[in-house]
Amino acid sequence: MTSFSERMARAAKKSRIILALDPVSRKSNLKYATGNIKGVSDHVCAVKINFHLLLPLSSSQIKEITELAHKSGLQCIADIKLNDIDNTNEVALEQLKIMGFDAVIANPFMGTNTLTSLVQMAHKKNMGVIALVYMSHPDASEGYGLETSEDMMYRIFFGRAITAQADGVIIGATQTEILREISMKKKELGVPIDVYSPGVGAQGADAVAAAKNGSDYLIVGRAIIEAKDPAKQAREMKDAVMRAFSA
Ligand code: XMP
Repeated sequence: MTSFSERMARAAKKSRIILALDPVSRKSNLKYATGNIKGVSDHVCAVKINFHLLLPLSSSQIKEITELAHKSGLQCIADIKLNDIDNTNEVALEQLKIMGFDAVIANPFMGTNTLTSLVQMAHKKNMGVIALVYMSHPDASEGYGLETSEDMMYRIFFGRAITAQADGVIIGATQTEILREISMKKKELGVPIDVYSPGVGAQGADAVAAAKNGSDYLIVGRAIIEAKDPAKQAREMKDAVMRAFSA
């Protein structure tokens, strides 16, 4: 069985764009999700499904979404920003596995040991963990950009993700300097951790620039979903990012 990171690397040969399934309407989340997956599956490598899409759905409906994604060759990432104690994290992970998820986004605020234990539990289930390091929205600096007596918060979080052997870290595509810094640090340490970046398009960042600054995967929601022609938009973004990686 391949690991989550290996499955992502395989899917990345087709595309490095991850579709963020964020509903704009509250009518039918199931139809919305399956429709969007069918529309752009040729141009993305994974789907990221947020809490707010999961909440109104039953576990069998969620399974229907992840099964469709898998049939379309896509990995499924649960964006629940998990941040709790060991035993509840374990149950959450088990439920996500049952619903067909391949990975979960977690908050390193939980602490190094708890994050390490989460990664170990996930790897046993052949799942991955992606740790938040720096979010993409404007006031992300109020948390991730805090300076503590030890170091900047995002550096501490990155260190925890490395120690825990997480599969990836989230750094907003809008955080140009942080992306560059972490990318240098990754090279220096020789760690194979992937950088996942939301914030492209609607939040102002450019996919190609982010890829050049160190993002391995671009998480895109509104810029694709709200486009006149989502498939065309996803294809153009995929092609531009692929060119940046092969340059
Ligand atoms: P848009 O529409 O702005 O959607 O392309 C972006 C998606 O990414 C999520 N988001 C984040 N998720 N860490 C995360 O785990 C982050 O730093 C972050 N910033 C944005 C957002 O919820 C949406 O699904």
